[in-house]
Amino acid sequence: MAKSLSKFVCRDCGFESAKWLGKCPGCGAWNSLLEESTAPSAKNLSKRSVEALALNSIPQTQVYRFSSGLNELDRVLGGGMVPGSLVLLGGDPGIGKSTLLLQVADNLSQRGSKVLYLSGEESPLQIRLRSMRLGIETDQIYLLNEQNIDLLDSYVQEIDPDLVIIDSIQTVYSESLSSIPGSVSQLRECTAKLMTLAKKSQRVFFLVGHVTKDGALAGPKVLEHMVDVVIYFEGEKNYSFRILRGVKNRFGPTDEMGLLEMSGQGLMEVLDPAQIFLNNNEPKSNGSAVVASFEGSRPLLIEMQALVAHNGPGYARRMASGIDQNRLALIIAVLEKKWSLSLSAYDVYLKVTGGVFIKDPSVDLGIAAAIFSSFRETPLPHDMVFLGEIGLAGDIRSVPFLDNRLKEAKKMGFKKVILPAGQIKSGFEGSGLHIKEIRNLDQLIEILMEG
Ligand code: TYD
Ligand code: MG
Repeated sequence: MAKSLSKFVCRDCGFESAKWLGKCPGCGAWNSLLEESTAPSAKNLSKRSVEALALNSIPQTQVYRFSSGLNELDRVLGGGMVPGSLVLLGGDPGIGKSTLLLQVADNLSQRGSKVLYLSGEESPLQIRLRSMRLGIETDQIYLLNEQNIDLLDSYVQEIDPDLVIIDSIQTVYSESLSSIPGSVSQLRECTAKLMTLAKKSQRVFFLVGHVTKDGALAGPKVLEHMVDVVIYFEGEKNYSFRILRGVKNRFGPTDEMGLLEMSGQGLMEVLDPAQIFLNNNEPKSNGSAVVASFEGSRPLLIEMQALVAHNGPGYARRMASGIDQNRLALIIAVLEKKWSLSLSAYDVYLKVTGGVFIKDPSVDLGIAAAIFSSFRETPLPHDMVFLGEIGLAGDIRSVPFLDNRLKEAKKMGFKKVILPAGQIKSGFEGSGLHIKEIRNLDQLIEILMEG
């Protein structure tokens, strides 16, 4: 029997199967398997063309970087754009990816660089309309309405741009495959070709990728491991600010975060993050606590809001937005065990102001304090910051980067800090902050009861 020339690939997770399946065994998605051709390519692979090199025979070089013109993007990129790198910018449709890249293109063009903007998604007229809104008027940005990725090389050679933007990877295709644009094999093939082109031409390549509902790039995670840098552009549609989050970077640190705000004239840098994450103008309400979270290389003071509402016997709801639901459940469980009061007759809701998602465990103490405050219907001191991870035994664990967090708290005008015992070294007194060290939740509650 002749070997089958097709396979079925899950468009969400890349799982491969010889036959079609209704449910993907890889990620559990329904009806996500698409047929892909596996006809062999005519490449001759058996010829040797490179030699293995001794590590120290490779010359030492510094990574050269240049600015994108947006500090917040540079920060996430690890200090700027690296020639020859392929950056994947993922995000929900409509979040502002095209706007961001057009602004970057403009910043570069003002410094005399050329930019090639390949758009398979929007017509040049649509991009022109956006550029008018952003006040961009330049002859250095070249728009290319071409979906065939195999032709890109010749345009790059002709125009000689410093930056190449592909908007989006889901709309381009390579002739070497017969499958449709957006299919898993096309995404892989096109990304691999762009990677080769980026290395060969030593230009910066930005790749836009749309995210599906579950957060994986549509046609999907397969791209993350292929590119040099992966950045997600996040934000709530109802808020104007946006977060750039680095999740992979071959040239710099990951987990960096950049803050931008969408305005009528495009994306602006957020100079004062406190505007977003702290409700400074209003008096402190019950259930609100300020934490100093550490995102990437920067401390951010963020307000946590808890609502503890009586529900009566039955199923108590626990809802968290901005932190992992399980972490909220865990903190409540520890509070219940350590506290003689039972929360089982109460619904507990938790919200992180500003719509960011926080993974930093040092905000645990703030969550506990917010829940306590809402339960007792007493506001917490307005100038107090909470720092500490909660252990299962109700113990308060130490937090990294304490100095930076305290500095930020002081800068933002906070006066009191509750933090894990044993972390403050002698000689720290001069900081001007009123510091209370605690070992366990009992001590937290003692302090809060004192008022
Ligand atoms: P866009 O960059 O097209 O999103 P993406 O490429 O990620 O799909 O941005 C779309 C949204 O941004 C759209 O709803 C309009 C809004 N917007 C502004 O609010 N201000 C602006 O200056 C621009 C250009 C867009
Ligand atoms: Mg777009």
